[in-house]
Amino acid sequence: MAFPDTRLRRLRRTAALRGLVRETELSPARFISPIFVSATGGAVSLMPGVARLSISEAVREAAELAALGIPGTMLFGIPEEKDQEGSGAWDDEGIVQLATRAIKDAHPDFLVITDLCLCEYTSHGHCGVLSTDGQVDNDASLELLARSAVSQARAGADVIAPSDMMDGRVGAIRAELDAEGLTETPIMAYSAKFASAFYGPFREAAGSAPASGDRRGYQMDPANGREALREVELDVAEGADMIMIKPALAYLDVIARVRELTRLPIAAYNVSGEYAMVKAAAAAGALDERQAVLELLTSIRRAGADMIVTYHAKDAARWLAQ
Ligand code: PBG
Repeated sequence: MAFPDTRLRRLRRTAALRGLVRETELSPARFISPIFVSATGGAVSLMPGVARLSISEAVREAAELAALGIPGTMLFGIPEEKDQEGSGAWDDEGIVQLATRAIKDAHPDFLVITDLCLCEYTSHGHCGVLSTDGQVDNDASLELLARSAVSQARAGADVIAPSDMMDGRVGAIRAELDAEGLTETPIMAYSAKFASAFYGPFREAAGSAPASGDRRGYQMDPANGREALREVELDVAEGADMIMIKPALAYLDVIARVRELTRLPIAAYNVSGEYAMVKAAAAAGALDERQAVLELLTSIRRAGADMIVTYHAKDAARWLAQ
């Protein structure tokens, strides 16, 4: 049946009708709000509304997130000292480990998902250790990542989220967690993580810009969709419990394709540059921030993501509650 018998506007007539037929719901229960912990603290100038927090501030932030109905955080640590190997990453008294323990002690039900990578901890800012030729040494990095995962899990992390993009890291981390009796700790694999311009503001927040070169030797080429599916297949085979796609907005097609490929839960990371772009446009009066943010978050869910890591989480949760 076509027009005039079919009129799609019939179901758009009132808010109640639109609500009844809405295909995608947005809820704070599907948000994960990142926290940056550091000893020094301070605002992140490129990300209005985001700051580096001390451990006690991070504990308070967790309470605020929980009160808004946001179930968890993606936790990043910025250590006071960095070295060639990134040894702060597996220090049981390191910043992420201390913050994880403090948050979990105060709020046992609040989820702490720890980002697992060496770039915040290495003096050269790359996501793994360097070999003598200055390249990131994949296999040598695996052992350090696995060790760091165990340290994070022992500190109480609910989920380990490796973001380094080394080949074989999910399997290496799973094996090490299991060997240490941490069989119940799930892995959220940043499976399709692209070498993106949209991480710019994050690198200011984490002080993790590579001192030389870039990450194109290990993060994915933004041109490749099929290869993203291969990354996902490998991570599933290696034992990933959840899959992450990152960034989100320029990669909605990848989210949709991965949704077709796997039955695992999918997370999408609405990254720092995506956040900064919306904030700047809103500050310039170019768009209505509330409407824009809710529309973008809805698009990520519609593409197929079960959960969204986003710096907009608190604002969006407040708007949704109104
Ligand atoms: C660590 C990591 C990065 C982000 C999350 N984990 C930065 C990078 O890969 O350079 C980016 C998050 C964001 O931009 O919000 N490797």
